[in-house]
Amino acid sequence: MRTSSDFSPAPTFPSSPKSQAVSAPTRELAKGPPAGPRGLSLLRHHAAILRNPLDGIHEISARYGSFVRLDWGPLVFWLANDPDAIKHVLLDNAKAYRKSRNYDGLRLALGQGLVTSEAELWKTQRKLVAPAFTPGRIARYVPAFVKAAEEAADGWRASTDRARTDVHHDMMSLTFRIVGHTLFGTELGGEADRIGPAFEEVLRFAEDYSMSLVRIPPSWPTPANYRFKKALGELDRLVERIVRERRERLAKGHDAGEDVLAALLAARDDDGRPMDEAQLRDEVLTLVGAGHETTANALAFTLYLLSLHPDWERRVVEEIHAVSGDRSPTIEELARMPILERVIEESMRLLPPVWGFERQAIESDVVLGHRIEKGHIIGVSAWTLHRMPDYWENPEGFDPERFTAERKKARPRFAYVPFGAGPRICVGASFAMLEAKAILAVLLRRFRFEVTSGYRLVPEPLVTLRPKGGISMTRSFR
Ligand code: HEM
Repeated sequence: MRTSSDFSPAPTFPSSPKSQAVSAPTRELAKGPPAGPRGLSLLRHHAAILRNPLDGIHEISARYGSFVRLDWGPLVFWLANDPDAIKHVLLDNAKAYRKSRNYDGLRLALGQGLVTSEAELWKTQRKLVAPAFTPGRIARYVPAFVKAAEEAADGWRASTDRARTDVHHDMMSLTFRIVGHTLFGTELGGEADRIGPAFEEVLRFAEDYSMSLVRIPPSWPTPANYRFKKALGELDRLVERIVRERRERLAKGHDAGEDVLAALLAARDDDGRPMDEAQLRDEVLTLVGAGHETTANALAFTLYLLSLHPDWERRVVEEIHAVSGDRSPTIEELARMPILERVIEESMRLLPPVWGFERQAIESDVVLGHRIEKGHIIGVSAWTLHRMPDYWENPEGFDPERFTAERKKARPRFAYVPFGAGPRICVGASFAMLEAKAILAVLLRRFRFEVTSGYRLVPEPLVTLRPKGGISMTRSFR
């Protein structure tokens, strides 16, 4: 039996990565120059990051510490894997930053939706969208989470025992349907196989575009631009269909409903004008994308990790049976499944579905004693942060006990950021956690999932962290 996850060739940290941090208040300047590679070493690290951002960034942190400066020509990039620095940038002084130029690729696809918008527009849109994600509202989605999972399970029960399947694909279809039911009051099931690859194409384009030092304008007739536009066309048709159907229902006198689409359609600005069509398209597409892909990745990774750790799988299944017996779980019962919750948290530590995010300074600042100038980029790699040995003993080991209340309290809050932090924290974090718990409680009660022999997980860092080529598993009846 394997005792630790087998996917990461992560280098070990030679010394405490916090050793270079400054204990003085954040705004006081440090005496020495910032840590970081120079000259040939910088080029070597840059090439390593382009080859594989997960390992490339991890290597730099292992070698230079938790707050590192990289000068790439006119572009200055700080790698922050220090909880104090992260808290400062994402929360305490968030007003000094915006999302970086590395979101430009995503902006080409999602326009000015909630993930990519800034300033006043972002504030207005967040206020509109947030009521769909209050605890009370999310509680009302739980029956839809459970129903969709039971329906998927019924379909699988009707097929063969010991079926080989790509669980990533299965989880994408499931969470895609759920987003349709809960946020947009529509059935998306029939479209999953068309829309999944379109989203993947868009994410690949966004990542390549953002990482390129020389950016080819999207209007140029290159194969990548052609594929991007084709994929975007699919997504636009989906959004157009979702909005058109709702308007037709409203025109027929149906109730406006209370979901996020109803809120977007009912929104009026100070002059009483509705949201313009482009903005509506950007918000709907953003929520469809952000609302299903990340959770599907978390679910697929969790099933994979549980199959590598059968002792934990047994504990989770015992908990599910002890709490909800042979029935579908209720929200109260899900709240009484701490082992399941910790397993999901540990899965998102090792394989964070959003593996990194960035901010760009819009005014000068001082972080951990180092001057940050306007235009500098600060990057957080959840992949690396979640492996920092100062906060995570035996970082590569799978140990959900790290997430007991006592151990969480003993750790800096910003050492674990699967959902980001501060004002731009994931608006769907609670939705995602409850959805993941509900789906796993249903599926693990009815099936056992085992990694297919010879399969090796290759995490692929696009904008999100995805399993390259899917996750091949055997699904057996319990
Ligand atoms: C396990 C699942 C999920 C993970 C790991 C995740 C992670 C994240 C992270 C890290 C951010 C912040 C990015 C940054 O600061 O640059 C974010 C933002 C966001 N997420 Fe999620 N997310 C998940 C599920 C969801 C769901 C289910 C929804 C919607 C239904 C959603 C909607 C959003 C939106 C709209 C934003 C932008 C918020 C803003 O800037 O105001 N996410 N997510």
